[in-house]
Amino acid sequence: MLPAIKDYRELARRRLSRFAFDYLEGGAEDGRSMARNLASWGDVTFLPRTMVDVSQVDTSITLFGRQQAMPAFVGPTGLNGLYWPQAEQVLARAAHAAGLPFVMSTASTSLLEDVRAASPGDLWLQLYVQKDRRIAQSMMARAQAAGFSALMLTVDTMVHGKRDHDVRNGFRMPVPWTPRLLADLLSHPRWCLRMLRQGGSPQLVNLARSAGVESNIQKQAAAMSREMDMGLRWEDLAWVRRHWQGPVIVKGVLSAQDARLALQAGADGIVVSNHGGRQLECAPAPMAQLPQIADAVHGKMHIFVDGGVRRGSDIAKARALGADAVLLGRAPLYGLAASGPQGVAEVLEILRTELETTLRLLGAPQARGLDASFMQKH
Ligand code: FNR
Repeated sequence: MLPAIKDYRELARRRLSRFAFDYLEGGAEDGRSMARNLASWGDVTFLPRTMVDVSQVDTSITLFGRQQAMPAFVGPTGLNGLYWPQAEQVLARAAHAAGLPFVMSTASTSLLEDVRAASPGDLWLQLYVQKDRRIAQSMMARAQAAGFSALMLTVDTMVHGKRDHDVRNGFRMPVPWTPRLLADLLSHPRWCLRMLRQGGSPQLVNLARSAGVESNIQKQAAAMSREMDMGLRWEDLAWVRRHWQGPVIVKGVLSAQDARLALQAGADGIVVSNHGGRQLECAPAPMAQLPQIADAVHGKMHIFVDGGVRRGSDIAKARALGADAVLLGRAPLYGLAASGPQGVAEVLEILRTELETTLRLLGAPQARGLDASFMQKH
């Protein structure tokens, strides 16, 4: 096991082809949102208690009636097949083994039915709504039939943010075989072999199945993924509700005002998120928005937060500042790209042990007991 998440990031950088790593890592435009996300966790200070019995610590929490190992879950990321074959199955199994839910992206490169078959764990579906609403409807019906327990509607991706690396690399789906890309691939032969073993470029199979375009799958699914419904409004949450039995979480809220609107519209939870700094450049860091959002809706709906979570101590801070749990984005992907199933398991284990250490040093025997009194007021 490597010491820290950043060591897995470095290994991932070396092992992935350049265009795959840039896709994984890249933030929008000049990367300011992403840098702010990472820095934000260092902008707050703990206030520890001493002489508290911390011989036993408990990191577990309960979400939507289910107990889980710590206040975190493996979040939705698209195109995971770029890093490892059957990536979503690997992530789902690793999350389950670590006692955490796994959220599968609409833009996944495995069928949700195959992910269900691969893992008995708690699975949630992340939904993008395309202009043709029948696609999202079909996706929800399939996920419901496969026993996915919660739905996460992402609302910050009406268009894709401008990611300069991807433009420079000519990144698109299907993967374009340009001379520049071939040179990049040849310098990462092990990665190339893994891709070849899974049948070449990963495909948006899930979207294609729901759109009923399984022939010529890549082109059509890629076109679908560009056809987002930009007219989506809070009123449409009622439509989602009609098609989904179970918790509905809105991902991509950054203000107290929107948190209140999500509550009024009937959401069970929100993810305070700027999409890992990949969408709107110069968006605020979700962590920095968390206290005011918690003031507005704490106790009335679930609050999750993401963006730059790379330490177990970040999970403790999120919890103390009013979040129920954090969403892990890039961290598990670094493990996946560095060394597949083992890498993901190690990343999740590092976060758990770091959280345990933080709880002991904070004098907080239970993660669920963390609150603002464990943080220094600025
Ligand atoms: C994402 N994210 C994302 N979110 C979503 O709702 N649907 C998706 O398909 C994707 N795809 C995706 C791909 C990649 C490569 C990344 C890095 C991220 C955003 C993700 O769920 C989460 O909001 C951020 O990744 C959190 O920030 P950190 O932890 O990566 O810094």
